[in-house]
Amino acid sequence: MSSAGAAQVTTDRVRVRAPGKVNLSLRVGRPRADGYHPLSTVFQAVSVYEEVVATAANDLTLTAQGPGAEQVPLDDTNLAVRAARALARYAGVEDGVHLHLVKGVPVAGGMAGGSADAAATLVACDELWGTGLAREELASLAATLGADVPFALLGHTAVGTGRGDLLTPAMSRGEFCWAFAVQDEGLSTPAVFGAFDALHGYQPQPSGGAPVERDEEVDLMHALRAGDPVALGAALHNDLEPAAVALAPRLSRPLAVAREAGALGVVLSGSGPTVAALARSPQHALALAAAFTAEGVADRVLTAVGPVAGARVVAGGD
Ligand code: C5P
Repeated sequence: MSSAGAAQVTTDRVRVRAPGKVNLSLRVGRPRADGYHPLSTVFQAVSVYEEVVATAANDLTLTAQGPGAEQVPLDDTNLAVRAARALARYAGVEDGVHLHLVKGVPVAGGMAGGSADAAATLVACDELWGTGLAREELASLAATLGADVPFALLGHTAVGTGRGDLLTPAMSRGEFCWAFAVQDEGLSTPAVFGAFDALHGYQPQPSGGAPVERDEEVDLMHALRAGDPVALGAALHNDLEPAAVALAPRLSRPLAVAREAGALGVVLSGSGPTVAALARSPQHALALAAAFTAEGVADRVLTAVGPVAGARVVAGGD
């Protein structure tokens, strides 16, 4: 906050970090006419980050670095570019921006890395262009970009309904430790939802069908409030797991390896293919990651903690 008489500080470079997520529970209903599926999900933001460096420029350009960056489209289809354009249009800004993405979240991995880029870009451009939007305005713009973008903005723990974009923050105590088995070859989210429909014989309906609520959801919310990793591990669930495994049968291996290695719970992250294993401690997370590597069931492993904050300015871009 600037104090009276302080020089106005302007910046031509802003660096923002936004987290990836794991769905602790993902219940999926029947598809709506627009193809989207009503969801009931519990998101946890984890300490695997995307970084966006936004630099003042005359036009809109994008570069990317980090694991899997070569798979990221650098044209107008990129969610970060769409986020910058959406903010510029909304706020009547005519300036450009150069966006540089530093990928930390697996590309097409089911951890919402592209959504984190979009959320980080909204925050970065808002700061760079001095548009000063309220968080609610940024959240509304985020929802137009993709179902997971509002959560990347919000972070921490939240229940998602609708397409996953209607969020209610949830209580969670303490820190949970994770190991992730990452695959080089991603899975397409629409393909996994399509396989889910095929497995259940679902056809799109005008207003879709709500997912079935289960008692495990109550257990899950209790586990979060109590900070109880054993109970959380028992309550992890993903309706998309059978569909993802049907598309990529090799995924049954990291799921089995994590269970055999003593994970408190194992779940496919979102639409996969990343497999998330809940650990007792940071040391146990490293042991689970080592088991993934030793058994050759991951192209890359990550460890992380959650929950963590949503998209935040971390520093000037230098
Ligand atoms: O919103 P987003 O672009 O992230 O969604 C990608 C795709 O995932 C959608 O086009 C749709 O096929 C599928 N999806 C879905 N139901 C949701 C969220 C995503 O069917 N609730």
